[in-house]
Amino acid sequence: MKVSVFSTKPYDERFMAAANQGQHELVFLDVRLSPKTASLGCGCGAVCAFVNDDLGADVIAELAQSGVRLIALRSAGFNHIDLAAAQKANMAVARVPAYSPHAVAEHAVALILTLNRQLHRAYNRVRDGNFALDGLLGFDLWGKTVGIIGTGQIGENVARILNGFGCNLLAFDPYENPNCTDLGVRYVDLDDLLRASDIITLQCPLTPQTHHLIDADAIAKMKPGVMLINTSRGAVVDSSALIGGLKSGALGSVGLDVYEEEADLFFEDLSQTFIRDDVFARLLTFPNVLITGHQGFFTREALKAIAETTIANITAFERDGVPVHPVPMPGDR
Ligand code: NAI
Repeated sequence: MKVSVFSTKPYDERFMAAANQGQHELVFLDVRLSPKTASLGCGCGAVCAFVNDDLGADVIAELAQSGVRLIALRSAGFNHIDLAAAQKANMAVARVPAYSPHAVAEHAVALILTLNRQLHRAYNRVRDGNFALDGLLGFDLWGKTVGIIGTGQIGENVARILNGFGCNLLAFDPYENPNCTDLGVRYVDLDDLLRASDIITLQCPLTPQTHHLIDADAIAKMKPGVMLINTSRGAVVDSSALIGGLKSGALGSVGLDVYEEEADLFFEDLSQTFIRDDVFARLLTFPNVLITGHQGFFTREALKAIAETTIANITAFERDGVPVHPVPMPGDR
């Protein structure tokens, strides 16, 4: 099958080509899918897209009209696709439900450790010949309470790692994960988690219910000086509210791998220009804010699994008319 693979970087091309083994005709495109670029996918059997591609109704209609029958997402999250439009266009949507929950969980813990012991600042100090410790004071993770919002695959792995550090673990999730309760994780309601946690980490999907789940009201309920980590999706957090929380000291530190307006920033080298997003630019000025550019998934194991599952989805769709991992359509759930 001919497949237009949007938003590809050299590493995507390498892993996708290795998984494909010549089965499908992959057309690698470094541009993002958008109404301006959708025509590049026209005439293919499938379009393969990543997290910041635009899969709104207009794009879907144009692709469907040209004969595209499958959208194969190279991601677990599918908040960026208009599923109703895909359903109306009779287009199948596939995703990669699990590739390496370890990759993202380990990155969330890396953000916690770095922020707590201020490794991002210590690195620069030592290189500058400054060996003073003043300002780098951290705390023992042992005995601290960590609130995990969303205990699916990634949240469960965060719980496993932090259990090893001797943390008390609280969780909020509409569905209790028995593997987490076995670890000693205690499920509480959201307000109790916000009030009791020294560290809060977001591991839930972006849905209408979780959009701006962390806003000024939620921050006001948190322990003063709490550490907040978001490796889920940017819009789970109201970024402007973060600035207020950081300025007042309500938030002690913030680690973000995702940002609600990241589509205009992440995955590109913008070092020769300037940042137009004032909220993002302000966040970068805080020494107790650590931002990475959506790299939680970025391990060799995860890229291999993403590529292999994506190819398996396309192959199964071509053979049976159904991908291995279809995204449920509205009404299916
Ligand atoms: P999962 O589907 O295994 O788990 C999600 C959990 O969130 C489920 O247990 C679900 O019940 C829970 N949840 C749903 N609504 C909730 C709510 N309102 N409040 C609290 N919990 C809620 O998903 P997985 O694999 O653990 O991934 C979680 C999210 O992480 C993805 O949806 C994606 O947005 C993000 N992600 C980020 C990556 C990165 O590179 N930073 C890479 C992969 C995923």
